[in-house]
Amino acid sequence: MFSVETTATSAYVVAALLFILALAGLSKHETAKTGNSFGIAGMAIALLATVAKAIDGDIEHLGLGLLLIASLIGAAIGLWRARVVEMTGMPELIALLHSFVGLAAVLVGWNGYLHIERHPDGVDAQLLGAHRLLGIHSAEVVIGVFIGAVTFTGSIVANLKLSARITSTPLMLPGKNFLNLGALVGFSALTVWFVISPSIWLLAIVTALALLLGWHLVASIGGGDMPVVVSMLNSYSGWAAAASGFLLSNDLLIITGALVGSSGAYLSYIMCKAMNRSFISVIAGGFGIEAGPADDKDYGVHREITAAAVAELLTSADSVIITPGYGMAVAQAQYGVADLTRTLRERGIDVRFGIHPVAGRLPGHMNVLLAEAKVPYDIVLEMDEINDDFADTSVVLVIGANDTVNPAAAEDPGSPIAGMPVLTVWEADNVIVFKRSMASGYAGVQNPLFFRTNSAMLFGDAKERVDDILRAL
Ligand code: TAP
Repeated sequence: MFSVETTATSAYVVAALLFILALAGLSKHETAKTGNSFGIAGMAIALLATVAKAIDGDIEHLGLGLLLIASLIGAAIGLWRARVVEMTGMPELIALLHSFVGLAAVLVGWNGYLHIERHPDGVDAQLLGAHRLLGIHSAEVVIGVFIGAVTFTGSIVANLKLSARITSTPLMLPGKNFLNLGALVGFSALTVWFVISPSIWLLAIVTALALLLGWHLVASIGGGDMPVVVSMLNSYSGWAAAASGFLLSNDLLIITGALVGSSGAYLSYIMCKAMNRSFISVIAGGFGIEAGPADDKDYGVHREITAAAVAELLTSADSVIITPGYGMAVAQAQYGVADLTRTLRERGIDVRFGIHPVAGRLPGHMNVLLAEAKVPYDIVLEMDEINDDFADTSVVLVIGANDTVNPAAAEDPGSPIAGMPVLTVWEADNVIVFKRSMASGYAGVQNPLFFRTNSAMLFGDAKERVDDILRAL
C-alpha cells in the first residue's frame, strides 16, 4: 500500500546513491559534469521527499509556509551567487557555505535541547520514544552544537582570509597549542556534565567555547596552508550535518554528512601529503608551527624584460614550460596563453605546462582554466611529472605564479613555506616572471626567484603581456 513515509524512505536511498555517484564523477575532470548532475538530482529528490514527509506529518500551515518560503529564498540566493561568482572567488564562497552548515547544526542542536531536555517535566515521553535514552540524546545535542559552532566561526575566518578582508598571516597567541588543547579538554568535561545533568547554561558555555575554538583554529593557520583548511572545514561541515542527522533521526543526513566528512578528510590528507605538511598539525590549528624570524634579507636587484624581447627569446627556444598560477586566473589570461601555445607549437617548439597541486585558489583551478581555453590535456603535466625536466628547458614562463615556484621552500629551512614541494623553474636556462609588481604571493613570503641571474620580470597584467608577445611573434 502507498504510504508517504515508505516512498520518502525509498527516495532517500535513491538520493544517497546519487550522492555517491556524484562523488565518484567529481573525481575526474572528464566525468565531473555528470557527477554534478547526479548531485543536483539527488538533492532535488531529497528536498522533495523531505517536504512530502513534512506535509504528511503533523506540520502546521505556518510551519509549511515558512519551509516553502525559506526554500525559495535559499534557492534564489544560491542560483544568483553561483551565477555571479568569479572562479577566483570560489574558495571563499565555499567557505561561506560551510559556515551555513555549521550554523544549521548549532540551531538543530539547540532545537533538540529545547524540544526534549528543556521540556517542563524534564522529558517528553512521546518525543523520547524515538530517542529511548535521554543521555544519548543529550550527547548528540552537545556534540552536534560543538562541531557546528567550530565549523561556523572557522569557516567565517577562512572566508575573511581568502577574500583578503583579514590578513592571511597566522595568529600566534602565546601558548596557542595549550589554548586549543584546553578547549578540547573543557569540551569533554562539559559533555559529561551535560549528559548527566543537561542545562541551558552548560549548552551556552559549550557553544561559546566552540565558537572561540573555531575562530582560533583557523586564525592560527598561515596563508600557504589555507587550501588544506578549506577541505578540512568541508570535512567538519559533513560531520556537523551527520550530527544533525542523528538528532533529527534522518538517515539521509547521516549518510550524506558521513560522505562529505570522510571525503573532505581524505582530500585534506592528500593535500597535506602533496604540500609536505603534517595532517595533525594543520587540523590542530598549526600545532607545532612557531613564528619564523622576520625576513629582512637583501636579495639583490631584479632584471626587467620587454614583451618583444620575450618573443625573441621564445623564437630561438627548443622547449618551453609554462607554469601558471593565481595571477593567470585573475587576468583571465588562459585564452591568450592557449593562443601562444598553439603559435609556438606550430613553429616546432615543444610547449608543456607544469601544474602545482595548489596553484590558484582551489584544487584543479589551473586545469579547469586551461581546459576551458582548449589546451590539450596531454601537454598539461602535474608537478611530479615535470619537475625533472626544467634543467633541460630553454624558457620557463611563470604566468602569475609566485608561492608555487618559490625556491625558498626548497632551500631555506627557516622559510614559513619550507618543505612545501615547488616547481623547480629556476633550473631552466631562462625564467620569465609575469606579474604586476614585486609584491609577495598568497603566503606573504618574499620570492628569491625574482633576483636570480637567469630570471627576468615582465611587469603588467598577464593577459596584456601575453597579447603583446603574440603580436610581437
Ligand atoms: P600566488 O602565490 O597567490 O601568487 C600569485 C601572483 O600573481 C601574485 O604574486 C601576483 O603578483 C600575481 N598576479 C595577480 N594578479 C595578476 C595579474 N592580473 N597579472 C599578472 N600577475 C598577477 O599564486 P600561486 O603560485 O598560484 O600559489 C597559490 C597560493 O594560494 C599558495 O600559497 C596556495 O597555498 C594558496 N591557496 C591555494 C588554494 C588552492 S586549493 N589552490 C586555496 C587557497 C590558497 P602581483 O600582485 O605583483 O601582480
